[in-house]
Amino acid sequence: MSNLLDIIKKEISDGGPIAVSRYEELALAHPEFGYYMKQDPFGEGGDFITAPEISQMFGELIGIWAAVVWQGMGAPAKINLVELGPGRGTLMADCIRAAGALEQFDDAIRIHLVETSPALREIQKKTLLSPDMRMPAWRGSFDDVDDGPLILIANEFFDALPIDQYEKSDDGWHVRAIDWDDELGALKYALGNKLEDESSIPSDLRNAPPGAIFEHCAVAENIIRAISERIKKHGGAALIIDYGHIERGIGDTLQALKNHSYFDPLSSPGEADITAHVDFALLADVAEGLGVNVFGPVPQGAFLSRLGLGQRADRLMLGADKEQIEEIEAAHARLVEADQMGTLFKVMAISSTGLGIPPWAE
Ligand SMILES: C[S@@+](CC[C@H](N)C(=O)[O-])C[C@H]1O[C@@H](n2cnc3c(N)ncnc32)[C@H](O)[C@@H]1O
Repeated sequence: MSNLLDIIKKEISDGGPIAVSRYEELALAHPEFGYYMKQDPFGEGGDFITAPEISQMFGELIGIWAAVVWQGMGAPAKINLVELGPGRGTLMADCIRAAGALEQFDDAIRIHLVETSPALREIQKKTLLSPDMRMPAWRGSFDDVDDGPLILIANEFFDALPIDQYEKSDDGWHVRAIDWDDELGALKYALGNKLEDESSIPSDLRNAPPGAIFEHCAVAENIIRAISERIKKHGGAALIIDYGHIERGIGDTLQALKNHSYFDPLSSPGEADITAHVDFALLADVAEGLGVNVFGPVPQGAFLSRLGLGQRADRLMLGADKEQIEEIEAAHARLVEADQMGTLFKVMAISSTGLGIPPWAE
């Protein structure tokens, strides 16, 4: 039995069943045993692979997006280039290499990496600290990023934030909780406290049948509020890339991934990546409510193709050998094809009102 499972069992025996968000928080971010705190989970040899790890083209196109946004902002002399949850730092490295071709942009950027995992910060340092690159600033939360205009990127960040789940029962909506089953010797889902006030369930979903699950990510809501307020005050844009739903709805999307296979999120806390679908409708509502523009979400395949992924792939294939050409073609397909990452992943931007409609969203 893992140490983390013992910690979770003790918390349940001391205080009763715990909320799904508390379980996720412990499984992913417990300072000693949390999944992201202790290891490098990325790549073919890890548990999952993300778009920047598939191909340098992904980060390069985001670098071009960032440079175009900066020009649209009137090319401010200083701009915070922020990434939330940078993983191995690969996206940021590819992004600044491509965007750095624009010398004035390169001079203007101050890089902020928002990362809670000490193990991943070390890997990011190795990826990003080279003599020709300026020192990034590491931050524990978005609120610690310096004030000022910003361009922000978040790829597969929001899906890693802890969600709350609510379950409809015959007598109304309850918090969905996690309990310990002595007989099974395993964690199990349980009905938690009944909601006295059902305002946290959207009104059009409240009459869902018994057994229905509604998910809400309060942490994502708070972060998107802080980003939108910053953009409104200082100008800039944020690009959010993740898998999730465009309309709010009913459904249990909590899932665990280990060695590229899915399995029960309760079976081995701290040993697998746990994620949930991002509620893009919620993020868009919060941002629009604060008076900033929202574009998309559009499918990742359409976004990358409109930014010129095909042309970039053609360019890289010039002078490449047969094996490299096959690799570039496979990466291109993986990023854009509908049966791979092309439609499951979506891209949404938030931007200050002066910036206009980005070409990829038209
Ligand atoms: C699925 S990984 C995505 C990594 C990277 N963006 C990529 O595309 O390869 C999630 C990242 O978010 C970080 N993370 C998770 N929760 C966080 C939080 N609350 N604040 C900051 N970083 C967090 C993890 O440590 C990890 O770097």
